[in-house]
Amino acid sequence: MTTELSGGRLTRGLKAALLDTMRKAPASEKPVHEAGSRQTTRRDMSFESLPGYQFLQTQRALGDALGVKSPFYRQHDAQAGARSVIDGKPVVNFASYDYLGLNGHPEIASAVTAGVAAWGTSVSASRITAGERGFHRELESALAGIYQAEASLVFVSGHATAVSTIAALLGPKDLILHDVLIHNCVVIGAQLCGATRRSFPHNDMAALADILAATRDRFDRVLIVSEGLYSMDGDGPDLPRLVEIKERHDCWLMVDDAHALGILGKTGKGIFEMADVDPKRVDIWLGTLSKSLVSCGGYVAGSRALVDYLKLTAPGMVYSVGLPAPSTIAALTAIRLMQREPQRVERLQANGQRFLRKAREARLDVGSSWGYAVIPVILGDSLRTIMLADRLLKRGYNAFPIIPPGVPEQSARLRFFISADHTDEDIDGAVDATREELSQLEREGNSLGTMAKLMLAKIKA
Ligand SMILES: Cc1ncc(COP(=O)(O)O)c(C=O)c1O
Repeated sequence: MTTELSGGRLTRGLKAALLDTMRKAPASEKPVHEAGSRQTTRRDMSFESLPGYQFLQTQRALGDALGVKSPFYRQHDAQAGARSVIDGKPVVNFASYDYLGLNGHPEIASAVTAGVAAWGTSVSASRITAGERGFHRELESALAGIYQAEASLVFVSGHATAVSTIAALLGPKDLILHDVLIHNCVVIGAQLCGATRRSFPHNDMAALADILAATRDRFDRVLIVSEGLYSMDGDGPDLPRLVEIKERHDCWLMVDDAHALGILGKTGKGIFEMADVDPKRVDIWLGTLSKSLVSCGGYVAGSRALVDYLKLTAPGMVYSVGLPAPSTIAALTAIRLMQREPQRVERLQANGQRFLRKAREARLDVGSSWGYAVIPVILGDSLRTIMLADRLLKRGYNAFPIIPPGVPEQSARLRFFISADHTDEDIDGAVDATREELSQLEREGNSLGTMAKLMLAKIKA
């Protein structure tokens, strides 16, 4: 394909032009004369002078010129789930983490209502000082039970769980080795803790083993981090191999099961159940309460020593408020429903497999997705991805466009999150609409590219 919108040519051209606008020198340094004083230099400290701010403004102006609404922070007028309402119109929603269709479930709603009546909406402060309550312990014991772990610990945010846990466990003499596609929470944790950080190519166990063979001796502790199911690509690691490598090289292994709990394995316990690996062979299970468990917060599960240590040292635990009753009780009730109604997991998995099969038949690029909760349709070009999302929305399908830096350059994609609540019709309709709109965009390729460049020239002028 040689259209201007394909193969990254337009992206690179536009990017260069956008960068050019960013480089337009902000009036950052102005000589100032004050009576009786030497000439001094005033700096432009306005937020508008930030290069990133100017870049965003140009992006927005380009979107406006092309008639494409920004997909960011869009208002939804319905609860998160397989369906939503946007701009007053009902849509089939493929941008919600409610994988098991549990958000707003009457049993969760009434348990939370009763919990709020009994405990209020806040636990006031960190559990280390304000104390903990029965509901914290119940949720932690349910999570530990899933992983057959000695203990578990819940934090107020999934992101902060990773940052805090890594910060508490590692320091400057240590090494963190993570998959190149690992979630931002691990990268930030690794940057903050001062350990050496290296990534290995996506799911490449041979590369990981090679790095360890060459460098293990230089570090005290080594932490390997993988996701159970990758949030942008929908595939996962070879867990038996990962465990074997970490054991051979005396490392800790952390698996972020945020998108695998409730999704993978016969009963939704996650990657270990799917891969038939003893969960005790993974040192640190990490996850979030915000996805299948339709709540808010994060968790760690592992040995008693790990949890005891984190309870007294993890900054996001010691210096941040405890999880309030509504979030704790929502997650706990969701776990019970997941266990009592395994057909939700079955339905989700069947839906994912159907989407994957249909998308492949329609010659959409789904990358290496396993076809469970997360299925990307990879376009490569950012502008075309945003336009495709916009056109699909007009046809009643909401799938979120992911562009760099969320994914590597030239791998922009629409990401479809699958729910147990999607019907066969929802899935078939979404795949057909994606195919049709993508073909249309491809036909428009050259003229769109030229138009975008003209618009950008106008904006810059
Ligand atoms: C793999 C992964 N880990 C951690 C998180 C952070 O979880 P939360 O959004 O609940 O803070 C996310 C969020 O999307 C994620 O995708």
